[in-house]
Amino acid sequence: MAQIASLSAGAALLLATACAPNAPKMATKKDVHTFAQPDQARVHHLNLALDVDFDAKQLRGVALWNVTAEANADTLILDTDRLSVQSVRVNGETTAYVLGAPDAILGTPLRIALPKHGPEDTLRVEVAYQTHPEAGALQWLSAEQTNGKTHPFLFTQSQAILARTWIPCQDGPGIRFTYNATVQVPSHLMAVMSAENPQTKTADGTYSFRMPQAIPSYLMALAVGDLAFAPLSERTGVYAEPSFLSACANEFVDVEKMVQAAESLYGPYAWGRYDLLVLPASFPFGGMENPRLTFATPTIVAGDRSLVSLVAHELAHSWSGNLVTNATWNDFWLNEGFTVYFENRIMEAVYGKEYADMLATLSHRELLETVDEFMQSAPNDTKLAIDLTGRNPDDGVTAIAYEKGFHFLLLIEKTVGRPRWDAFLNGYFEQNGFGTVTTEQFEKRITTELLSDEEAAQINLDEWIHGTGLPKNCPEPTATRFDRVDALAKEFKANGTNATLTAAWAEWSTHERLRLLQSIEGAPADALRALDAALRLTETTNAELAAQWLQTAAKARLQTPELAAATRSFLVRVGRRKFLTPTYEALLKNGQAELARSIYREARPGYHAVARGTLDALLNE
Ligand code: BES
Ligand code: ZN
Repeated sequence: MAQIASLSAGAALLLATACAPNAPKMATKKDVHTFAQPDQARVHHLNLALDVDFDAKQLRGVALWNVTAEANADTLILDTDRLSVQSVRVNGETTAYVLGAPDAILGTPLRIALPKHGPEDTLRVEVAYQTHPEAGALQWLSAEQTNGKTHPFLFTQSQAILARTWIPCQDGPGIRFTYNATVQVPSHLMAVMSAENPQTKTADGTYSFRMPQAIPSYLMALAVGDLAFAPLSERTGVYAEPSFLSACANEFVDVEKMVQAAESLYGPYAWGRYDLLVLPASFPFGGMENPRLTFATPTIVAGDRSLVSLVAHELAHSWSGNLVTNATWNDFWLNEGFTVYFENRIMEAVYGKEYADMLATLSHRELLETVDEFMQSAPNDTKLAIDLTGRNPDDGVTAIAYEKGFHFLLLIEKTVGRPRWDAFLNGYFEQNGFGTVTTEQFEKRITTELLSDEEAAQINLDEWIHGTGLPKNCPEPTATRFDRVDALAKEFKANGTNATLTAAWAEWSTHERLRLLQSIEGAPADALRALDAALRLTETTNAELAAQWLQTAAKARLQTPELAAATRSFLVRVGRRKFLTPTYEALLKNGQAELARSIYREARPGYHAVARGTLDALLNE
């Protein structure tokens, strides 16, 4: 039911007519995942004041927006989701507002009556509100769920459309704003945001932030916990819980080199500092590119720096995504496909071509598997230009956007050669900086500025962007370092384990090991048991290898008490969805549904809402 508050008859009329069509100032692509109508009234700057209440699992405060509106626009529409709004004031005056009927995916539009104004006037719209304890963006962790086990922790995850669960905002990637914030937290904790950050705790738990570069709402981020900071270079550093900080600083020694490599590829880093925040293990993603402060899972801190390509990925988003942003979530491949490509270039620059080739080859296998699977179940979801109308944008977070997008860009690179491609990309980032790009704009730009007609035809742009499946001309990356792995995998599948394999394993990098574990899926259970005994796979502390081994073992129906215990402890401790979904799936499909459900019952309370959403559907709880 629509909720109506303090509405005068005049204001009601204003609000009722607010949807009347008005000619938009410029043709912007419709964003189907926001109620906002930025062509009518749009936000420019946010002043946020929040109190963080761990007992109530609630943020309480005021969002004060600077807004401009067309002269004839009488309503500002903000997105909200389960927020309770206490009051709204415009230019200091209490104002009428309506919370519309909630939509299961999009939440609730907040319509605010605007007074008469000129098109240049800045209106100050002040919303006093509090969040719901189950707000989708917020994960409130007990001390038990942290590394140090002594203090609670809070982090946000706003992408794709969860910012509206903690800030009333125009929640679309095409609407940018700057912000200031004041955040009050318990005095022994530190607060950090996607903004200029403190490096030490304050005495009173009050933190002030300034974000002078305009960002879309999905990059709004806050974390609160027992944090400490360690510098990595003049302009890079890492935040983590004190007990974990030195391990993190050691893992990320190469971050400055990565920033320099990225800058020499695609232009200056636009955001001042680049810091990382290593979160507790329940963080549902590998990483999140919050500007100035990448949020990262602790599962990349392997001890041997072998999983730092994730940092290259999140860093690359400082250009592809944060600087040049997908106009809508239907254009998500522009954010992620470009970022996987850019990640690979950074890794090549810092660690060499052999290393980057291994990453590309792993990506290629994942692409083939995803396309195969989706062509059976949901062929339209194999399109780069996906239509997510009526769906959760989370449905678009698949290997299609990432790996198909990456391979498409690899093909363009191969077709025109790196010098022309890199020059094009430099212009793309420079000219679209702090703006958005639609798939259609990208198509137009690439055909007018980069590709000849012959090249465009050779690539078959239209099939790549709008077609299903995988075009025949998809590049097939190979890695010389995988030749040996693949040969040994083949032999293992035929004859079981041997001394050559165990000796090779000892020398291999994490990526060669991953390749082996993937390639021996389908080997007989007995052979895998022997391999486990030789290589102590069940005991591995590398999260990527652990997840892959648990899946390979489950698919082979290998069942031992040690494996069951290791699977349980991994799935209870780690909340990264990329590991959870395939591991639960492997158990479910291979005769261990009981175990999967029993583990899920234990683990579920510790998972983020984003992971619970996916897994509830899978395990139909
Ligand atoms: N921006 C994404 C994470 C994301 C996407 C969150 C869509 C919510 C909605 C981030 O950059 C990402 O891609 N993370 C990957 C890292 C990997 C590809 C290196 C992840 O979390 O696994
Ligand atoms: Zn990404």
